[in-house]
Amino acid sequence: MNLAGTLYIKKMNKLIITIFGATGDLTLRKLLPALETLIKTQKDYESLTIVAVGRRAFTSEEYLSFVSESNAFSGDINTLRPYLVYTQVDALKPNTYENLKTLFSALSSGKQSVRKIFYLAVGPDLFLDIASNLLDTKLVTKGDLNSIIAFEKPFGHTFEDARFINAFLEEKFSPAQIYRVDHYLGKEMIQNIIDLRFSNTFIHAIWNNEHIREIKIVVSEKDGILNRGAYYDEVGVLNDMVQSHLLQILALLVMDIPHSLASEDIQNAKIAALEKVKYIASESLLGQYKGYRNELGVDPDSLISTLAFLRVEVQTPKYNGIPIYLITGKKLARKEAYIEVIFKDAPGSHLFAGSRPNRLIIEIAPESRITLELNSLAKLHTSEVVPTKLEHCFSCNFPGAIKEAYSALFTEMIHGRKTLFPSFNEIAKAWDIICQIRDEKPRYFIYEPGFDMGGNND
Ligand code: BG6
Repeated sequence: MNLAGTLYIKKMNKLIITIFGATGDLTLRKLLPALETLIKTQKDYESLTIVAVGRRAFTSEEYLSFVSESNAFSGDINTLRPYLVYTQVDALKPNTYENLKTLFSALSSGKQSVRKIFYLAVGPDLFLDIASNLLDTKLVTKGDLNSIIAFEKPFGHTFEDARFINAFLEEKFSPAQIYRVDHYLGKEMIQNIIDLRFSNTFIHAIWNNEHIREIKIVVSEKDGILNRGAYYDEVGVLNDMVQSHLLQILALLVMDIPHSLASEDIQNAKIAALEKVKYIASESLLGQYKGYRNELGVDPDSLISTLAFLRVEVQTPKYNGIPIYLITGKKLARKEAYIEVIFKDAPGSHLFAGSRPNRLIIEIAPESRITLELNSLAKLHTSEVVPTKLEHCFSCNFPGAIKEAYSALFTEMIHGRKTLFPSFNEIAKAWDIICQIRDEKPRYFIYEPGFDMGGNND
């Protein structure tokens, strides 16, 4: 997707990226590697400092050792080393923000233009405390578009919670200073949905219930909850994956053509699409993997779900009647993410042996690939056809070109763009759908680790 939208920032002297939650799994697994990519590829600032913020009493050197020894970190610490400083701050203790203030005064001396990104890789219960403390210490001031705050998902624990957080933020900051994160929007194949749907005549023409039989959005993970038991047992699969990633993908798949590629136009088109989503409990399932309740940090009687198989419909004349499945879970047979659009039988399909419904597969992981499956002649002088794949594999053809989604998000934040960030109204609509699911719970089952939900080649 062409990242249109307001470009506030062109060139800056200094960029300071501060990460709250610096010892957490997300920082180690995703944010630091994304920053590493940024260091290697970004040329839009003269100097960069990454301020890692945590409660532990580390020196910067100790923090670097902690990162490089952690199993969750797979990057190259030497790329990060020259840019990283660690500062001890207890998010809930205002006086500890003085450490950060002192560091910032030292970093921002002189007349340079400084862009400050505060990234909150913490749970939503800390959002308001951190935001208030940043304001009180004047590390961020309302209206300064060069200081922005990013809030990792989930945005709130419940819909009420999300509304409360949002009301506070909208009062205290300008809209352009607030970034709500959903890293799936930074994935190339998800950005590509808009391009595929609206720049191809034939895809656009058949994108409706006359031609589409079924849509599946699948994000399947082999790992369990790793060492995030305490977090996961509060959120479960609905808040962790469906409320954000899967519903965002759905919105991109069924939204109408936006007026332009500017972030607000795309956001408005997604909001209108999410408003029409109806969940069907009788054809949905939630599950929990065997052994989940023995995981560290998990309640031994927990009923939290680690798998969701949700049937939804989009109630518009264009999409009515198309079964859409949102499928995601932990400890499944494979790590893969894809969108599968299955088309109806062709009018002449009965004439050909071996004819199968056409499929469009947008593979998000492990490869970034688009496959269009067509029926084509098997042998001369027969009426037999075989499914034939036309495919374009970005990640195989351009190894290294596909980046960690978070590096795309950081690039957007650096430049003051919002195309890859959901608005609050989108998040609110997604919470509405989660409330529908909570109100009318589907059947619940326990599954064996390694459970096979099928793949895009089946
Ligand atoms: C995160 C969830 O948002 O996305 C994790 O909190 C999940 O539970 C992860 O594992 C999956 O992201 P990716 O990019 O590895 O598919």
